[in-house]
Amino acid sequence: MAKKINNLNHLISFKTNKITGEIAAPSDKSISHRALLFSSLSIGLSKISNLLESDDVLNMVRALKSLGVKITKSRKNWLIQGVGLTGFEEPTKKIDCGNSGTLVRILMGALSNNNITVNLTGDQSLIKRPMDRIVEPLTSMGVNFITSNNKLPITIKGNSKLIPIKYKLPVSSAQIKTSILLAGLNTMGITEIIEPYTSRNHSENLLKYFGAKIKFNSTSSGVNRVLIEGGNILMAKQVNIPGDISSAAFTIVAASIIPNSKIRILNVGINIYRIGILDALELMGADIKKENIRINEFNEPISDINVSYSKLKPLKLNKSFSSKMIDEYPILAIAAATATGKSVFRGLSELRHKESDRFEAIIEGLNKCGVLTSSKNDDIIIHGNRNKIKGGVTIDCKYDHRIAMAFIILGTISKKPIEVVGCNSIITSYPNFYDQMRYIGLNVEVKK
Ligand code: S3P
Repeated sequence: MAKKINNLNHLISFKTNKITGEIAAPSDKSISHRALLFSSLSIGLSKISNLLESDDVLNMVRALKSLGVKITKSRKNWLIQGVGLTGFEEPTKKIDCGNSGTLVRILMGALSNNNITVNLTGDQSLIKRPMDRIVEPLTSMGVNFITSNNKLPITIKGNSKLIPIKYKLPVSSAQIKTSILLAGLNTMGITEIIEPYTSRNHSENLLKYFGAKIKFNSTSSGVNRVLIEGGNILMAKQVNIPGDISSAAFTIVAASIIPNSKIRILNVGINIYRIGILDALELMGADIKKENIRINEFNEPISDINVSYSKLKPLKLNKSFSSKMIDEYPILAIAAATATGKSVFRGLSELRHKESDRFEAIIEGLNKCGVLTSSKNDDIIIHGNRNKIKGGVTIDCKYDHRIAMAFIILGTISKKPIEVVGCNSIITSYPNFYDQMRYIGLNVEVKK
């Protein structure tokens, strides 16, 4: 199990001459959550290898154990004895989902089919995040919720006789999609979900692998239609988790903006609905090469990625881009800060609902570091200029891991170092970030 190392809370990053070498991408957080949950809903013993042992995922393990699922670790593998779709036991205490929106939202979907009452809560960040997006569709399927303002803490009471719905998602969201899909697994009839733009389809791929009766079809305009037929029995599987492009993105951008850098990242998941960051960086002129591309047993494409430094150009991105790189805007904004000229990222209202208000965090943080950044409606406008990145400031990431890592990377090219407080949050997604960054030569230290 990953251990919490509190002295990493306050980090400083300094000018870095170059980063070089080869690292394995940290395991994918989204797929780790799903693999644990879907294994728990299956019949038989599933084995997961390369599970991300981050705080968010370990909170999923704890949540499932409190629902009566037997989970053990044997050498490097996690073994999950599934209880089936309706086999959860009522927990004796409330379930604390920590910092993880994915955990609480997809768990609510899985709980929907179970005749038990469960109290859910989370940390200071999670209790502020919107849950109406889950409560509304699940309520219309017949799930009961007790909530004062559609925020945590929430009590959920599922039942095994839900009714199917046809639901058009107000925003593209893999969490909402997954939650409804899980509720639909045991709901007689066909549950249908329509997304304006396709979000990550790991749930679709993995549910199919576990034997669910699921169909999905994304049109050329991006609209995604997913159908799930009730009456499923999921069967235990072996799941080997690929590396996380969202975590790899920090190294990819660092190598792209630190002169003379050359990096190879192994085993990165390159699902087309996740790789907006690679597409965006390539449009900016980054030198990124995918190698050794293969498709894994549940249809996820994986590759090794080589990145070398190059001079980046500014870029304009439409809203349609956001569903395939929603978590990567903080680090893309750092890349844009180095590219001389105006970059515009459109349609980013969803960034306001992440672990912190990332929309404001990007604008405030960049301005503080000397990069002129503003907003217009839901767009972020960055006037990039490498020579103006002065640094010499402290950024409070408000316990948001991706804001912390993004500004640590910015400190490697700013005139003066950048201090970041709240870096304990990094353990939610990338527990060995500090060690890996130092290993490839990134000049980051613990504040004494
Ligand atoms: C995730 C979906 C995304 C993403 C989050 C992980 C998932 O959220 O931001 O970090 O694993 O399903 P939304 O579903 O809210 O877009």
